[in-house]
Amino acid sequence: MKTVLLTGGLGFIGSHIAVNLIESDYKVIIADDLSNSKIETLDKIEKITGKSPIFYQVDVCERKLLEKTFSENRIDSVVHLAGYKSVAESTQEPIKYYRNNLISTLTVLEEMQKYKIAQFVFSSSATVYGSENPVPYKEDMKIGNCTNPYGHTKLISEEIARDVAKANPYISVMMLRYFNPVGAHSSGLIGEEPQGEPSNLMPYICKVASGEYEYLSVFGNDYPTKDGTGVRDYIHVEDLAEGHVKALEYLKNNPGSHIFNLGTGQGYSVLEILEAFEKANNVKISYRIEPRRPGDLSEFYADPSKANEVLDWRAERTVEDMCRDSWNYVLTNSKTDKF
Ligand code: WQD
Repeated sequence: MKTVLLTGGLGFIGSHIAVNLIESDYKVIIADDLSNSKIETLDKIEKITGKSPIFYQVDVCERKLLEKTFSENRIDSVVHLAGYKSVAESTQEPIKYYRNNLISTLTVLEEMQKYKIAQFVFSSSATVYGSENPVPYKEDMKIGNCTNPYGHTKLISEEIARDVAKANPYISVMMLRYFNPVGAHSSGLIGEEPQGEPSNLMPYICKVASGEYEYLSVFGNDYPTKDGTGVRDYIHVEDLAEGHVKALEYLKNNPGSHIFNLGTGQGYSVLEILEAFEKANNVKISYRIEPRRPGDLSEFYADPSKANEVLDWRAERTVEDMCRDSWNYVLTNSKTDKF
């Protein structure tokens, strides 16, 4: 049985990847500092799969602490997700983002070099395409000109991984450029639950639907898009997680350095998502148009054809599935009987 170290594995995306890896017969080790996740998620992964990953509560920037994870286990591959991920927050706290997201990547790769671990799958982002590229984004486009520090941390991390692969031919690296992951596991046991006020659209809509917030602020309706609001490529987190299993299989048989977009290829506006959520869940979402948010682009979505063909992977779930599963997670985990 192959062993995978999943950093950030108790987070929203990480926990779904953990479930898919276990269900694909991998042994999963999770390293997570619980800064944006909860220890209860470990039990929920076990409830879904019948197996509990080995867990290390560790800040992956701390090499001495991370060392234990590598010295106590025979790890075959690493899937590295640990990192901060809010575009908006990164524009206010760049040093926090550069320090955490770059040192964590450097530390994990240093340990991989030391323990001669062959595969590195990196949680990259569509934000590396920056503001100059036309949509749909393709993997061979020139990257850079990111509009926010978060995107730059992903861009630099990709370069670090590619250089490490060049210097160590036994290390193969795979950059998976995520678009906008949303939704939750069909069981409702795991899902997106950011600490504090959410910055992302879907968890914010869920908090309006649950009555925690009065309305959704729609950041700008004067973009050159179909209805003036921002357009993104929303992808169900279960599709995204399945893409990681396919990526790992591919990387094991194809040494070198690879890049894949994990998106649906379809762009939806903020108002289209809001409407889809209302329809899928029979709820009303109040909203107010507010000024644009710093760092936001008007529109981006993927050309997913390379992943479709080379990884034999395709996002199957619809925006309705994403809205329904997001809300089901809230209902399943709500403490009140308001709904
Ligand atoms: C989506 C749209 C907002 C909140 C995300 C991830 C980032 C990266 C890229 C993977 C935008 C609008 C949002 C709100 C709104 N993913 N919005 N009101 O900024 O595209 O970034 O995808 O690496 O990690 O964060 O996602 O959900 O914040 O915004 O109007 O309260 O919704 O302006 O058009 P974003 P988001």
